[in-house]
Amino acid sequence: MRVTENIHELRTIRRAMPGVFGLIPTMGSLHDGHAAIIRRARLECDHVGVSIFVNPAQFGPEEDLAKYPRALENDLALLESLGVDAVLTPFPENVYPPGYQTWITVENVSKPLEGAARPGHFRGVATVVAKLINIFTPDRAYFGQKDAQQAAVIRRMAEDLNFDVDIVVLPIVREADGLAMSSRNAYLNADERKAAPALYRALSAAKARFETGEKNADMLKAAVIETLSAEPLADVRYVSVADPDTIEELHEIRGGALLSAAVIIGKTRLIDNILLEKR
Ligand code: PAF
Repeated sequence: MRVTENIHELRTIRRAMPGVFGLIPTMGSLHDGHAAIIRRARLECDHVGVSIFVNPAQFGPEEDLAKYPRALENDLALLESLGVDAVLTPFPENVYPPGYQTWITVENVSKPLEGAARPGHFRGVATVVAKLINIFTPDRAYFGQKDAQQAAVIRRMAEDLNFDVDIVVLPIVREADGLAMSSRNAYLNADERKAAPALYRALSAAKARFETGEKNADMLKAAVIETLSAEPLADVRYVSVADPDTIEELHEIRGGALLSAAVIIGKTRLIDNILLEKR
């Protein structure tokens, strides 16, 4: 496995890797969700690259950039064991050198939900993902469905800017009690960790209603809120039933829909979602 902090060196390493190349952009602090994505990429690609970069541009001034978990040594050991070929761990000052002024805004998809709660977040995500795609020139770039709006933003950007890359979005990996895996779960104390699976329980309750015929978005959102109201530690920020590609809110579900929610538990913001599939 070749590991470099240097973008130019990464390009040289990448040029020597023929065949189908898969990229998994990450912010490190890797968990089983990342491992599942990397294993899938390993099966589908001749060479696999991973970036580890806690991207300052996607954090707001009041957000957790400084305390975001970092575990480079463990991450590299995991990546080696998964058979990754190339790893880039760049410094922020090399990704955004002095004078940097080019940003990608994916307009409407970025506005609601996470975009409304975290102004500038998706501008930072889209820009760094575009840069990583330019640096690695992958055939396939892999993301997790847990960040469903992020996946929609990246799909839209790749389509709009004619990127020659397949965007692959893989299912959420969950803990045994249903909590979606996330590096930020490390912030939860014992009581908060016990409370956190309420989010998935609530989404699942609404999904059960959908599957027995409820197609009205307000009714489904009410089902989520009702289940979450039984968990005193969960402060609900939004519940949404939206088009999975445009992230526009739906009233009646005719095809598929993205059911998503955000809660604050303690000081930690958790998001989760379930795809409601047309039957
Ligand atoms: O999902 C993440 O970990 C990040 O948002 C990403 C895609 C690596 C961009 O920094």
